[in-house]
Amino acid sequence: MQENSHSARTQVQISLAERSYPIVIGAGLLGDVSNYAHLPAASTALIVSNTTVAPLYAAQLKAALQSRYVKVLLLSLPDGEGFKDWQTLQLIFDALLRNGCDRKTVLFALGGGVVGDMTGFAAASYMRGVPFVQVPTTLLAQVDSSVGGKTAINHPLGKNMIGAFYQPQLVLCDLDVLNTLPSRELSAGLAEIIKYGPIADLAFLDWIESNLDALLARDPAALAHAIQRSCEIKAWVVGQDERETGLRAILNFGHTFGHAIESGLGYGQWLHGEGVGCGMVMAAHLSQRLGLVDLPFVERLTRLVARAGLPVKAPVLRAADNAGRYLELMRIDKKSEAGEIRFVLLDQPGAASVRSAPEPLVREVIDFCCQ
Ligand code: NAD
Ligand code: GLY
Repeated sequence: MQENSHSARTQVQISLAERSYPIVIGAGLLGDVSNYAHLPAASTALIVSNTTVAPLYAAQLKAALQSRYVKVLLLSLPDGEGFKDWQTLQLIFDALLRNGCDRKTVLFALGGGVVGDMTGFAAASYMRGVPFVQVPTTLLAQVDSSVGGKTAINHPLGKNMIGAFYQPQLVLCDLDVLNTLPSRELSAGLAEIIKYGPIADLAFLDWIESNLDALLARDPAALAHAIQRSCEIKAWVVGQDERETGLRAILNFGHTFGHAIESGLGYGQWLHGEGVGCGMVMAAHLSQRLGLVDLPFVERLTRLVARAGLPVKAPVLRAADNAGRYLELMRIDKKSEAGEIRFVLLDQPGAASVRSAPEPLVREVIDFCCQ
């Protein structure tokens, strides 16, 4: 076992009967071989990473995995949201087949949400399902995308439109890897952390407001608490509604507007977390116009999103009838039913649900937020 930079670690459990698994949070986890001791036995492990993360962390992970697997392979994908597609997914299947990987092979997703979502989808479908482990290296992936089993790729017409629910065996959130994360990516992760406050936990929202400077300064204790509380809330939601038949949709607060921004601008222009940050402001305004929350709460959330280094003004996606373009894009959303757009809105500060809204009101919000 390698020595940890400090020994404090916490664990959050995802409770889904035989699909249950732990999320381990702490420093020095990647190279600690004891983390891998309870994984299913196999001869081969495939680490899937990308051209940015692999040079930083693949050697450390590979060395630890070599104590458990005879063969440890590494596949480095091109980096970016624009590569979360069929062609790049195919590279994972190519590597698995070319190396004669059997159905016990364990996949390790070493990277942010893009690598995690694609590796998870590959694991769900290779030989109808092989085990996989999430080793998230962005803040966003540690607090959201690596947890809960949503896996997907994008389609040019819609974000995350092709995928599967497929749970990992383990999630390892190593705090040390966050030291190399660019500031813009740190802010993107803060968007998903902030999200948990208005939808589920006002005390956590208070805590984020008080500790935002420490989070931006990457204080390990603050980060560890934010990751733990975010994962606890996500575990509570996913434990009740794994396949998003109801409650789980609240985790998409801000995402209907945010996904429209991401796909409307072209994947990779705005980061996912940036779309979510601005999308939460838009969804809060829509909630306010429906009389569900008051303006001071919307302004409070807007201030926090801005302080986190995230955009609060939405981009214009088309010169003529910009709101119409948003509406077109938002109709291609997994929550839409019979062409009707459905939003996650705040019922009150600290609680959310899925609702539809009159189109003129939605247009009003888009026009206001795009000013
Ligand atoms: P990302 O995976 O693109 O990573 C962001 C950037 O940071 C990349 O360039 C990456 O190479 C780099 N990077 C990663 N770790 C690093 C590190 N430690 N040091 C330096 N650079 C590092 O983006 P993301 O924000 O992690 O994830 C966004 C994706 O996650 C989107 O595709 C989104 O749809 C998806 N997502 C999925 C879920 C889910 O439940 N499955 C939830 C939220 C978001
Ligand atoms: N990120 C939304 C979900 O996992 O449901």
